[in-house]
Amino acid sequence: MSEMTVTPWEVKGEIDYNRLIEEFGLNLINEKLEAKLKKYLGDNLFLRRKIFFVHRDLDFILNEFEKGNKFYLYTGRGPSGHTHIGHLIPWIFTKQLQDAFKTKLIFQLTDDEKFLFSDKLSIEEVENFTKENILDIIAVGFDPENTEIYTDLVNSKTLYKQAVRVAKKITFSTTKAVFGFNNSTNVGKIFFTSMQAVPAFIESVKQNKNIPCLIPHAIDQDAHFRIARDILPKLGYYKPASIQCQFIPGLTGSGKMSASDPNSTVYTTDSEKDIEKKIKKAFTGGRETIEEQKKLGGNPDICPIFKYYFFLFEKDDKKLEDRFKACKTGKLMCGECKLQLIPRIQKFIKEHQKKREKAKEIFNEFIVKD
Ligand code: TYM
Repeated sequence: MSEMTVTPWEVKGEIDYNRLIEEFGLNLINEKLEAKLKKYLGDNLFLRRKIFFVHRDLDFILNEFEKGNKFYLYTGRGPSGHTHIGHLIPWIFTKQLQDAFKTKLIFQLTDDEKFLFSDKLSIEEVENFTKENILDIIAVGFDPENTEIYTDLVNSKTLYKQAVRVAKKITFSTTKAVFGFNNSTNVGKIFFTSMQAVPAFIESVKQNKNIPCLIPHAIDQDAHFRIARDILPKLGYYKPASIQCQFIPGLTGSGKMSASDPNSTVYTTDSEKDIEKKIKKAFTGGRETIEEQKKLGGNPDICPIFKYYFFLFEKDDKKLEDRFKACKTGKLMCGECKLQLIPRIQKFIKEHQKKREKAKEIFNEFIVKD
């Protein structure tokens, strides 16, 4: 089995979620908590399938909400390239939470991060991806009345003032221990986590009272918020809570879908032809030959194609189970399974692209001016 790495900047190898839960100190979303969330969200595919599966202080958030102390949502994107289907998972769930709880959402674009952590990208290239990514964010359908998009370099007037308060409480040795930095790490990287902490308390600063914050994200971002949870109470704010999801895997095998390998990823900007090509080329849990597959069956547990159905493209549990069984028992071949998936992804991306075009008209309604 390949060695696992899960940091905010690198995800590789076979992901062992149980090990991550232990190492990061996360809590599983238990039945009681799921039932409580369902009261507001209704039946939810991401919860039912345990795609969103772990949390920090979600019970606190829901208890406070029931007492009338409303929380706000915070999530983000590091604009290092075009948006891919994986990024959309936490955003779609965040929209469902915004609709269910009628909450404010703060969305952060960490253009500074992507400049500091990339060997290739210029500031101008990152700025361009920021604009492109914002179209995808708006296309997800967040409420313009209740959503604010902050971009680090653009909104530095507001964000930097708060980031220095956080930075003053973080030592170099903490960032070394949490992120694996060393003496050759550029100083911008060492500072950066302070910027990602700010939206977790910016509403409390603006409204001059403590407001709970819930952050939906995939498990790779947890390290930032472990630090934020340590520091924010020292500044007089609540610890931010989180609800975290698994990764939709890359099409070339294990790990997460990576924006740096175009073949492992379906971008929201891909054409129908691109999608067809990528899915046809994708790794599967299939056998070497059709004869073997018929005899021994495939392995949907390690198959990114099956995971696509699981995460987004087969909403009916019974049909998903039938597909799983048909694969396992050698009745369904990979080629056929891929051919059934292609039009579903094409339809989804086409609809998203229409909304992405419309987003251009309402772009400015979402942007924070400071
Ligand atoms: P970024 O741009 O790497 O990722 C954006 C969001 O997508 C999640 N994600 C995935 N989810 C499911 N499957 C995948 N394959 C997959 N790949 C990425 C990430 O966990 C993230 O939620 N530094 C951050 C930007 C940021 C942020 C935040 C993210 C700033 N503030 C608050 C979450 C919450 C970044 O570079 O994310």
